[in-house]
Amino acid sequence: MFDTMTLTKVTASVCGSLLIFLFGTWAADSLYHTGAAEGHGEGEEVAQAYTIDTGVAETSETAEEGPAFADVYAVADAAAGEKVFGKCKACHKIDGTDGTGPHLNGVVNRNKGAVAGFGYSEAILALNTAVWSPENLNGFLENPKKYMPGTKMSFAGLGKPEDRANVIAYLATLN
Ligand code: HEC
Repeated sequence: MFDTMTLTKVTASVCGSLLIFLFGTWAADSLYHTGAAEGHGEGEEVAQAYTIDTGVAETSETAEEGPAFADVYAVADAAAGEKVFGKCKACHKIDGTDGTGPHLNGVVNRNKGAVAGFGYSEAILALNTAVWSPENLNGFLENPKKYMPGTKMSFAGLGKPEDRANVIAYLATLN
């Protein structure tokens, strides 16, 4: 009898403790979550700490611009450029005749838009005074539409500096 009573009390107190523990956990959880939401601000501060990383990214951007075109061009590979020229062949011939684009024989150091009889865009004719130096070709081939807004050359551009240098080196062999 006495033992049963004790057992009941113990059971009740254990259950009560469990209940309090569960409530406590729940309360702590919601508090924690509130804290975490506020902590978002701190999270942004942490993000600011990553400004250091952004600095690194800027450094690598600078590094991308870093290798000067002249350096890449100095070690350019005309044979590799011939392969890159495969992307140009649909529009450009190298037998002195014009296709969708003007022929590219001797284009390196040729005046811009200088092929007689080819229907150039106004955009390229506006640049007619300048010459297609390797540097100018590099700028044009990286992003034709950006370099020459309004150009008729529907070509996305060559993203890799090596590809540009190589294809220019190849074009320089076609005189
Ligand atoms: C979809 C067709 C097309 C492709 C592909 C193309 N071009 Fe052109 N390209 C043209 C056209 C059209 C023009 C004339 C642009 C104008 O009048 O605005 C042109 C102009 C040029 C010029 C200027 C020529 C001059 O006489 O002033 C060069 C250099 C040139 N392209 C190089 C290339 C190279 C190198 C590639 C490949 C990496 C290439 N193009 C890919 C159509 C193309």
